[in-house]
Amino acid sequence: MPATYDAIPGNEPLVGSPSPPSRWQRVKNSLTRRRMGVILCLLIFASLITGIALVLLLPETSPLEDHDYQRIHPPIKPGISTRAMEEGLAKCQSIQRQKPINQYNPSRTTNPRAPSNVQTTLLKNAIVWDGQGNVLNDVDVLMQDGVIRRVEKDIRIDDDNGNNTKVIDVKGRIVTPGLVDMHSHLGVFAWPSLAALRDGNEQSNPLTPFVRALDAFYPDDKGIRIVASGGITTSLVLPGSANLMGGEAYAFKLRAVPTRSNEDMLVQAGIDPETDAEERWMKWACGENIKNDYGKLLGEMPVTRMGEAYLFRKELERARNLLIEQDDWCSAAENLGEGERLESRFPETLELEILVALLRGDVRLNIHCYETHDIEAMVRHSLEFNFNISAFHHALDAYLIPDIIRRVRNKDTITIATFADHWGYKKEAFNGSPYGPKILHDANITVAIKSDHSVTNAQHLMFQAAKTHHYGVPEQVAFQSVTSIPAKALGLDHRVGSLKPGYDADVVIWDRSPLALAATPLQVFIDGVSLFDDPVIENEQHQQSTINNDAAAAAEDVNIAIDAFNSMHGESSFVLSNVGRIMLGKDVIEGPAQLTVINGTIACADQDCRMTMDANMPTIDLKGGHVIPGLIAVGSKLGMVEIPSERSTGDGIGQPSTSADPHAIIRAIDGLKLGTRHLEEAHKGGVLTAITAPMSNNIVAGLSTAFKTGAKSSLDEHAVIAPTVALHLQIGHAFKSASFPTISSQIAFIRRLLTENMDANNDYGRAARGEIATIITVENKDEIASIIRLKEQHLKNARIAIMGGAEAHLLAYPLAKADIAVILRPALCTPKQFDSLHCLTGAPLTEGTAAHVLFRNNVKVAVGVLYDGWTRNLAWDAGWLSATATGSNDKQRITDADAMRFVTTNIQDIFFGPQQQQQVSDFVIWSGNPLQLHSRPLATFDPQNGIVQLTSS
Ligand SMILES: *[C@@H]1O[C@H](CO)[C@@H](O)[C@H](O)[C@H]1NC(C)=O
Ligand SMILES: *[C@@H]1O[C@H](CO)[C@@H](O)[C@H](O)[C@H]1NC(C)=O
Ligand SMILES: *[C@@H]1O[C@H](CO)[C@@H](O)[C@H](O)[C@H]1NC(C)=O
Ligand SMILES: *[C@@H]1O[C@H](CO)[C@@H](O)[C@H](O)[C@H]1NC(C)=O
Repeated sequence: MPATYDAIPGNEPLVGSPSPPSRWQRVKNSLTRRRMGVILCLLIFASLITGIALVLLLPETSPLEDHDYQRIHPPIKPGISTRAMEEGLAKCQSIQRQKPINQYNPSRTTNPRAPSNVQTTLLKNAIVWDGQGNVLNDVDVLMQDGVIRRVEKDIRIDDDNGNNTKVIDVKGRIVTPGLVDMHSHLGVFAWPSLAALRDGNEQSNPLTPFVRALDAFYPDDKGIRIVASGGITTSLVLPGSANLMGGEAYAFKLRAVPTRSNEDMLVQAGIDPETDAEERWMKWACGENIKNDYGKLLGEMPVTRMGEAYLFRKELERARNLLIEQDDWCSAAENLGEGERLESRFPETLELEILVALLRGDVRLNIHCYETHDIEAMVRHSLEFNFNISAFHHALDAYLIPDIIRRVRNKDTITIATFADHWGYKKEAFNGSPYGPKILHDANITVAIKSDHSVTNAQHLMFQAAKTHHYGVPEQVAFQSVTSIPAKALGLDHRVGSLKPGYDADVVIWDRSPLALAATPLQVFIDGVSLFDDPVIENEQHQQSTINNDAAAAAEDVNIAIDAFNSMHGESSFVLSNVGRIMLGKDVIEGPAQLTVINGTIACADQDCRMTMDANMPTIDLKGGHVIPGLIAVGSKLGMVEIPSERSTGDGIGQPSTSADPHAIIRAIDGLKLGTRHLEEAHKGGVLTAITAPMSNNIVAGLSTAFKTGAKSSLDEHAVIAPTVALHLQIGHAFKSASFPTISSQIAFIRRLLTENMDANNDYGRAARGEIATIITVENKDEIASIIRLKEQHLKNARIAIMGGAEAHLLAYPLAKADIAVILRPALCTPKQFDSLHCLTGAPLTEGTAAHVLFRNNVKVAVGVLYDGWTRNLAWDAGWLSATATGSNDKQRITDADAMRFVTTNIQDIFFGPQQQQQVSDFVIWSGNPLQLHSRPLATFDPQNGIVQLTSS
């Protein structure tokens, strides 16, 4: 059975419907049940016979008279054993006891998790973001015994008392608390994903409140250290969302412990339950996943949302009844006379234990629900059964329904734990808006940003929060959404999520502002223990805090510019002045520059264009904004499907076929669907062109088509740039099928198709001869090696590019030598699958990523799109690579212009051939550098439509 995460993992193969569990298993179960029945009948029959025999054979009266019996055994009052009675009373006491309340203590000096020999560390010259909204300039931070002891100016350590304090001068870097991710599946869906380790969903029953993520957490998950390298120090690990009541969740710190004990990794390891409240968390889910996993897959309840609601209520009713029975037992027990005992033991069952605890207010409930009616149903259940909802997770509709959310009893403490901008992968995620967090914040509803790791890679949780700032959440609130806000929702805000004296020493030193694109930790501490090699911290050219002012300035520019473009709608003769940078094609013109367009044609782009200007032409002062070509999305499903999980919304998915018939090749142009919301969002992000292949599980996916994302129909003038562009092939584990059970058979098939058609007048022949490009989806280094060999031995002239390429950096030199380009998709890989195990995840774990290694070795690099919903982020994907450039000299370093080429001209080169480079005729006007997070696209220009302002919401 496939793992059901909370969203649909993006790089899973496209499968129709997941295969159900073997029917044989179910038949076997029912046979076992029947056999048990027969045995039971035989047993009952045998004991009946024995009983009758005994009655017939035994003497009629007992040898002891009644009074004799009473003399030997003094009368006992009826009831359970003394011990059972005592145990029950202890449970009553525990239920009624006043629980300790977790409280922040600024003079706390010990952390039960800290190793005894942890080094005292002093960070000098920091800008501290404390996670509670405060920015402290030029302070020092002292960590001792796993606790933050002092955050002050000029802490001196002359009097070290033999602590051997380590001093790190952070040279003005921003230092923050470690991030808190309140929705992760680390350890329960481990990396690399192996069937043997898929332990996140007890998918045998939709109601499994009694299972515990603690029992499944895999301490060797490669993801743990990768996620920590992004500055995440605490994660709530939840069961998946295949079940309505998925089970108990646990808060871990992401530091490996020498004992390898999961319990020692818990945030609350070693606390004293007399003084610290033991927090508990539970995971529920509603909506599509459960209907799919039971109704659709197994034909079992729940088939509908009605069934889901009933099952919730049925289970809650059982729990409520048990709670009443327990309370009745306790009050009866307390009213007993001396020596009296009750007839039955304290009523309890493992199955309902945590639900009863929830109803008693001792468990924090975290519910995965997306849509309005799902959220409202949950609110209704909470009112009916009188429990609180700690957080709705994902909840992509939440920004539309603050009133419904405020109907819960705990309306002042409920949190919406949501994605920054992940949307569109299924029906219930289709209302998602990147402005959702801002709208909720404005409605006074608390928002936490979470990863749903590995649905999104939690390593980049900070980037997710930074995006909410881009879309309007105030800077420090965006930062709190991954620190103190989730810490509070977990009930752990007295220890984690803030950087102040008395908190756990979970600390991140950032290389730049956490809200800047590509912000990366230089070092991460958990309980005062550093996780990575000591960083070399260089002097900064400029103060990070200026970034905030930049952002404010950029926001102002946007407003001025929006008005300007509004009045110029459709204009095809105009002047852009004060342009920060112009890139039309491969070359860069650094600003301040000018650009004139006359009657729809670019007449001049230069430092001085006065020669071409006419006093009557409208002029816009771009105030340093950039002009760049429309970005090109490749590798997506854009134009092929609107909602990937709903087949009716798209072309469909080609099934594996062994046909080598060149006439059978599918063309994406025949399945094109334009005017979708996905295309609209991509267009708003400055992506004006998409090149898309048919959706397929086949080795031959088909021929891609290039089209304008802004077009409404494929018959619109200029909608289709090229009806057929490249031949798309795909190999690897994800494409194993009955027809091609092995990767070797996949490669053999490709070899045969291309070599046998070398001289033929068909698309395989054209691909083999290099008349059209051949794009091969492949991740693994050895499979890439086979492609290199294939090209060198048989296909010298073919224009082959790798799509995916998670492990391509290991073959950078041979790829360059064979002139094979690599389209990294996504720009930053993860070792989620076994065939991508060697992926480079970036600093502080690896020096650079695949893009950096490939670029340094002169491989032509492009960046593709994995999630259609994230196409609008393409400029940031590329910008991340220049922002994290590595290499000793400028030739080796990815510049901003190089990064722009990854998503524009390099793609043109790969797909159309370097000779056929078309002159850029359309472009996008950005408020600033498109590779920085505070910039945004403002308007597009093309000869047909002139200037068109992009709406921002
Ligand atoms: C050093 O250790 C002593 C005793 O453990 C402690 O009181 C003192 O505050 C420490 N000083 C520093 C600078 O770490
Ligand atoms: C629910 O929250 C309210 C308000 O915070 C609180 O008064 C109440 O005790 C809570 N109930 C339960 C069952 O947790
Ligand atoms: C949110 O809270 C602020 C400050 O308490 C208040 O002024 C504002 O009216 C509230 N907004 C909404 C939508 O409730
Ligand atoms: C633009 O086109 C119009 C109409 O065709 C023509 O009259 C005008 O001269 C052109 N302007 C320039 C600067 O070429």
